[in-house]
Amino acid sequence: EKISNDDINKNTKPSTNDLPHSEDEDDKDIMDENSEEMKKFNNRVSVVKNRIAISGEVFNANSAKNFIAPVYDKTIDQNNRIEKSLKKNFIFNSLNEDQQKVIIGAMLIKKVNSNDVVIKEGDEGSELFIVGTGLLKCYKNIPDKDEQTFIRDYNPGDLFGELALMYNAPRAATIIANEESELFSLDRETFNNIVKAAVVNQRERHENFLRRIEFLNDLSEGDRAKICDCLITERLKKGDVIIKENDLGDKFYLIESGTAEAYKFDSNGKEIVVYEYKENDYFGELALLGNDPRQASVRVTSDKFIVASMDRDAFNRLLGSVKSRLYKNISKYQKYLDK
Ligand code: CMP
Ligand code: CMP
Repeated sequence: EKISNDDINKNTKPSTNDLPHSEDEDDKDIMDENSEEMKKFNNRVSVVKNRIAISGEVFNANSAKNFIAPVYDKTIDQNNRIEKSLKKNFIFNSLNEDQQKVIIGAMLIKKVNSNDVVIKEGDEGSELFIVGTGLLKCYKNIPDKDEQTFIRDYNPGDLFGELALMYNAPRAATIIANEESELFSLDRETFNNIVKAAVVNQRERHENFLRRIEFLNDLSEGDRAKICDCLITERLKKGDVIIKENDLGDKFYLIESGTAEAYKFDSNGKEIVVYEYKENDYFGELALLGNDPRQASVRVTSDKFIVASMDRDAFNRLLGSVKSRLYKNISKYQKYLDK
């Protein structure tokens, strides 16, 4: 699967990189948290959030600077496919349901033909893409070689072109359509105003939340920040079972909001509730501490429930210094049973 640099220049469609894009403060690297730009950006986050929470759309009549996401017509099937893809791509993990709807609405359908260069390495990026139908191929320049190296295929549901938007970097690879394909494109401005804003917002929320968790008190600010970056948020509803007794487990959970209960079955098969959880509590540590199957089931008891989880790898890497406190706390389950 070789392709020369000449092939790429020949087939580049100017239209894909010609979209207008603003050079304002939102375009700065999101990882540089302490920059002036990031502070300005953070200040705007709450504005974006309130607008979505209040009206269900990005709208504020008071300021010309306010951002309104575009809405493009699509079929129900296309919207469903975009929604599925958003759910499996971690960069959209911080979005709540309203924000996801805004993103789905703002996705624009673009048809490309076989051999069209959708993204050219080194260009400035103004949009990211989700594959609707078709097949695309990703290539990268290797220094001192005239040939492009094949990296990977892009199939329906896959997302590409996000790196330039996330890190304000030039396009890091070239993407070429291998057949006629349908793409959904999200413009940079909407990405910055909704997705980046939600990431910053979520990080802030996680930082505040971790400060409220007692067993993490001894961690340094730096370690807390690292934990924030690897937490995955899940939104669940009443009755959802998060952990099943006897399953193998590799996730540890922290409750951001809502309530849950742990339950087991006694020798007669009768269900007994063995622990009740509220926000800022944790569960699922036993399987990770002892490498045992899950010791109880856990289910949601509030209408809405937000839980943040980390995998075994992050648990071992980031919580090593506070594990002794988790071990010490195991006695609480016994106390609860004795009540
Ligand atoms: P972006 O840099 O915006 O444009 C090129 C895209 O190729 C990039 O985002 C990623 O989505 C995708 N890509 C896939 N594999 C790689 C890779 N190894 N290096 C860089 N980009 C890659
Ligand atoms: P784990 O065994 O990984 O998964 C189920 C979780 O339920 C367990 O970790 C604890 O966090 C929690 N739990 C609550 N009460 C009990 C209990 N009485 N016995 C065992 N686990 C409990």
